[in-house]
Amino acid sequence: MPFVRARMRLSQLPGGNAFDVNQCHTLVDDTAWVFQHPSGTVVCRPLRVEEASFAAAIEASRFQPSTSISTFESLILGQSGVCCGIFIDETLIGCAAANITPALDGFASEAFFDNISILAEHSGRGLGLMLTSYLLNLCSGSPHHCSRATLEVRIGNVAAKQIYARMGFTCHGIRKRYYSHPTEDAEIHWLENMQSPEFRVVLSESVSHALELFHVKHLHRSEVDS
Ligand SMILES: CC(C)(COP(=O)(O)OP(=O)(O)OC[C@H]1O[C@@H](n2cnc3c(N)ncnc32)[C@H](O)[C@@H]1OP(=O)(O)O)[C@@H](O)C(=O)NCCC(=O)NCCS
Repeated sequence: MPFVRARMRLSQLPGGNAFDVNQCHTLVDDTAWVFQHPSGTVVCRPLRVEEASFAAAIEASRFQPSTSISTFESLILGQSGVCCGIFIDETLIGCAAANITPALDGFASEAFFDNISILAEHSGRGLGLMLTSYLLNLCSGSPHHCSRATLEVRIGNVAAKQIYARMGFTCHGIRKRYYSHPTEDAEIHWLENMQSPEFRVVLSESVSHALELFHVKHLHRSEVDS
């Protein structure tokens, strides 16, 4: 299935035209976001089963205990999860996954974030924020229609917490000594109202901000290289 359906030029960023996630949503039919940039083409899309080992390797390089290849394969092939990646010039540099609890007896579907990882050499360029926005877009869209999402995060994971706060997650509790190597408490975060028009605005603004970060970091790298 072709996944490149929509393209956006970044030459107007930052400032200029904000990214309109609703427009992208219509154009790409939920399959992919594609952004053209002087430093490369950035694509977010669902992962294919043959990419499970690459995703597992990326996660193992950033997070322990990490998700196995077979679990990634199940998430990709199954109906009860969402698994996606972010690519620069067709190279996978980050992955994210969520399990979905389907709607039941009047309760709306909920997304449980498994993890998100960006390769260390690509961290801090807005790509984690971009991929989180894409994952939440998949969870909130058809066929899952999630209205809530939850996750656990290390209390000291500043970058991840910054992303989740920008998406509207708030902390609702602590799991004491939940993580090992090193031992650390986990914060339990929830995001509500994912079907609201306000959440569509949050998604659009988050992607715009991610694109600005990517643009600024690219300019910075160019200056360092020259
Ligand atoms: C957490 C992670 C996914 C973030 O992805 P990233 O691409 O590095 O982050 P981004 O560049 O999108 O930055 C998002 C925000 O965090 C901030 N940030 C990024 N790295 C940071 C750091 N080391 N310290 C403080 N803030 C940081 C950015 O400034 C940005 O903030 P802003 O929205 O206010 O501008 C990535 O660092 C990672 O893979 N970490 C290891 C795995 C992990 O911890 N996953 C989360 C499990 S819950």
